[in-house]
Amino acid sequence: ITDPLVLFMPSGKRGRFPIGTPILDAARQLGVYVESVCGGRATCGRCQIEVQEGNFAKHKIVSSLEHISPKGPKEERYERVRGLPEGRRLSCSATVQGDLVVDVPQDTVINAQVVRKAASDRVIERNPAIQLCYVEVEEPDMHKPLGDLDRLRLALEKEWGWKNLLIAPHLVPQLQGILRKGNWAVTAAIHRDAGASRPFIVALWPGLKNEAYGIACDIGSTTIAMHLVSLLSGRVAASSGTSNPQIRFGEDLMSRVSYVMMNPDGREAMTKAVREAVNGLIGKVCEEGNANRDDILDCVFVANPIMHHLFLGIDPTELGQAPFALAVSSALQYWAHDIDIEVNRGARLYTLPCIAGHVGADAAGATLSEGPYRQDKMMLLVDVGTNAEIVLGNRNRVVAASSPTGPAFEGAEISGGQRAAPGAIERVRIDPETLEPKFRVIGVDKWSDEPDFEEAVGAVGVTGICGSAIIEVVAEMYLSGIISEDGVIDGELSARSPRIFQDGRTYSYLLRDGEPRLVITQRDVRAIQLAKAALYAGVKLLMEKQGVDHVDMIRFAGAFGSFIDPKYAMVLGLIPDCDLAEVKAVGNASGTGAMMALLNRDHRREIEDAVHRIEKIETALEPHFQQIFIDAMALPNKVDPFPNLAL
Ligand code: FES
Repeated sequence: ITDPLVLFMPSGKRGRFPIGTPILDAARQLGVYVESVCGGRATCGRCQIEVQEGNFAKHKIVSSLEHISPKGPKEERYERVRGLPEGRRLSCSATVQGDLVVDVPQDTVINAQVVRKAASDRVIERNPAIQLCYVEVEEPDMHKPLGDLDRLRLALEKEWGWKNLLIAPHLVPQLQGILRKGNWAVTAAIHRDAGASRPFIVALWPGLKNEAYGIACDIGSTTIAMHLVSLLSGRVAASSGTSNPQIRFGEDLMSRVSYVMMNPDGREAMTKAVREAVNGLIGKVCEEGNANRDDILDCVFVANPIMHHLFLGIDPTELGQAPFALAVSSALQYWAHDIDIEVNRGARLYTLPCIAGHVGADAAGATLSEGPYRQDKMMLLVDVGTNAEIVLGNRNRVVAASSPTGPAFEGAEISGGQRAAPGAIERVRIDPETLEPKFRVIGVDKWSDEPDFEEAVGAVGVTGICGSAIIEVVAEMYLSGIISEDGVIDGELSARSPRIFQDGRTYSYLLRDGEPRLVITQRDVRAIQLAKAALYAGVKLLMEKQGVDHVDMIRFAGAFGSFIDPKYAMVLGLIPDCDLAEVKAVGNASGTGAMMALLNRDHRREIEDAVHRIEKIETALEPHFQQIFIDAMALPNKVDPFPNLAL
């Protein structure tokens, strides 16, 4: 007779085990990560699983609750004292009695939504770098003069199999007190990321410690976003954001690099500012998530190269000029304390690798999240900011570049442009007959031509045009014939509509009369043309490197991508032709990548490996970048056809 088959979900790992095998042991043997702090004493409750009942024909397995042992005395005691949710079992106590389909609950469901559009809800399988291990340590014995630390190590080796454990130096003086306070029972936090050659004891508590947290943080040039996550359940305890205080040293990245170059203390001041903001944000997520700073044991950071360098205290000057040399491109491991991050004294800190001088750890985060290197199809991943970070590839080959789009897409350098915020125009339509516009503003669920629009807008008013709406308005102007393929506003239309009027030597379009008066000028249209041509030229170069003339799927990362309508992005020739159903906004994919690296150390190796293999293209060095750029200025552009655009 063959042994029963056990299938673990969601990983799909399976194996045969003799009757009586604890489910936790079966999981361990298959490399399925199931948490356990108490080491199978049925006291921590972290090893919970669920059994699925039914005939899983696809897997040739019939699973039944009869195939799992009934609750024994230890499990019953746990249920009485701590309570077990309906259907949950402690996998350290329950044993295999027949074929089973076992669900390992994954509490991390990330909604990558940034603003409104739900992108991908995903489940991250956990295998964190930090593990909590409860042990009972032998008491000292005059006949065996072995130190307390040595006996702790022995207990961790005997019960948990840890060999050659190192200990964080700050714990050594505290060790004896903690062991005695816990009456020789302690919980050790072990950090065992493969990047660090030997596992480390990084924290120690008397008795059973049943919770530990991590933070995943994305340092953007404008905003810093953070998630606080339980490392034991994967539950997202809190998410929050704050503006990057470095803005006071310079609005965009290059002005911050100049600030460092011009001011002897510039680098230090900006490093201090961003670390203070991060510490403030940690306080905020801890308060919201009802957690303690001291319970944070692991931190993962992503950032663009300049933010990455400034955060780590590295002078970013080299990144401001060719050849854009990064001080370090590989992933880094720190003690969080060493760079002034106020969490547990033994907490670790990991930064994702940077891809290239202008394609940072944030792009690596997005790449990990969306995984072009995991696809059979050709995926284009773009993160649009003042610099567009572009990644194109599939499982065979991935190439990456950045393109200097400038700030136009973010609403800067556009008359009436502003960042996405309440009061900003976000959607625009122009009637091709009358050339009259209508629009919607963020936070109001009505079009401007509906009767009670002004009332609905209320005191906030209409304040400006955000980046996504600038795309739409220029695209709508093109679709209604107000601007030509070359992007010129047709002055002759001024005879037909007062919306088009002479404005110096060129013509402008009046989007809204009133306070503030919002006008799209010829200069605005040019700024958008330049930005979109730069983006397209970068994309096209990568397509040429890949030898493809179309892409199968497009992913927009970042806030900008969450707002824009793919159809308009294509009308303007921002992105290459693609089935519109395959164009998706994925929200803060960099942050999702950081979370994946926090919750599963295998994802760290995965992205380090992927980044190592990505071919980096420097657009400035490509001789025909300029020619593509010029051809891409037209609407949609003169580079490629757009069969998916049924205009
Ligand atoms: Fe702690 Fe099962 S491992 S309760």
